[in-house]
Amino acid sequence: MNYFDKVLSAPLKDNPIIMGIETSCDETAVAIIKGGREILADVIISSATEHAKFGGVVPEIASRSHTTAILKATEQALSNASLTLDDIDAFAVTEGAGLLGALLVGVSFAKSLAYSTGKPLIPVSHIRGHIAAAYLADKELKPPFISILASGGHTAIVAVDDYYTFNVFGSTIDDAVGEAFDKVARVLSLPYPGGPNVERLAKDGKNNIVLPKMLKNYSGGEFDFSYSGLKTAVINYVHNQKEKGVEINRADVAASFQHAAVDVIIDKAFKAAERRGYKTITVSGGVGANGYLRETLKARAEKDGVKLVLPEKRYCTDNGAMIGAEGYLQYKKRNFADLSLNAKAVVPLK
Ligand code: KG4
Ligand code: ZN
Repeated sequence: MNYFDKVLSAPLKDNPIIMGIETSCDETAVAIIKGGREILADVIISSATEHAKFGGVVPEIASRSHTTAILKATEQALSNASLTLDDIDAFAVTEGAGLLGALLVGVSFAKSLAYSTGKPLIPVSHIRGHIAAAYLADKELKPPFISILASGGHTAIVAVDDYYTFNVFGSTIDDAVGEAFDKVARVLSLPYPGGPNVERLAKDGKNNIVLPKMLKNYSGGEFDFSYSGLKTAVINYVHNQKEKGVEINRADVAASFQHAAVDVIIDKAFKAAERRGYKTITVSGGVGANGYLRETLKARAEKDGVKLVLPEKRYCTDNGAMIGAEGYLQYKKRNFADLSLNAKAVVPLK
């Protein structure tokens, strides 16, 4: 029997041990997850410092770094979990969205592991992975819930109706919120990665600069976002003040931007929960690590009597555990790939 027929006909386990492999951007991440919820190991090797001198992720450097880090991350994960490759029941890997060359390292590596062990290969959507991180944060969490998806590539309010059914209430019509954080960081001369540095600077600032209201005359969906105008407004403010010879208070700019960028996400998420009659909100994606977002959400959830599931910061930014968690759900559906699996720059949420 060939590889694919064999994995398709093998019985499924109730509590499979799944390796999650993530290489879509600048983190080489490998985790081992049992039964979809228990983290047995979780290794992240980041190449962020190599990109910092260029002010953003350099795809070619990211791919090369994955190539050198992937075996190390895998061996480390197995060793941390006191397991061997033979104990792994399936290999889940991010197939997209992300940088193609970077993704290909993880996809090719996962394929070779699956083929050599005769175990299933599970393609995972990066975005679904981010959303699934919530299942690791709260072992009792069950859909339905509203997920705030706020990353470097996506910004959306998603209704997770059941484990496999997603309805996007609204999303960004241009830049993602993380992208806006990164661009504002640049104009404030903060190093990559921008988000955490904007947050740090904002701690010393006040929300006292008036920035334009998002999508003021927009006739599209009420849950949509636009970060391009906000980003441009910040850039214009900084340049105009410079031209006038007025020294800007960088911390105030950071704080004002952070408020404008985050408050709108929170408002729309709670409105979506109310509209849908859902009592739980979760957070996913790198911007979910933002302290201001987290604290504001906590306060609002308490006030509104909504249950909030906040994954640890480590599980908001890219990691392998979230790929293992989503991989488990796909395992249960036997959504396995054959060895022609390829990386995809874009994967619809579906
Ligand atoms: O989810 P993620 O790790 O990768 C993508 O799938 O895009 O998100 C990365 C994004 C970057 O834009 C980064 O600046 C932002 O998340 N980010 C933050 C924070 N930590 C990461 N933004 C604001 N505050 C943070 N603490
Ligand atoms: Zn991500």
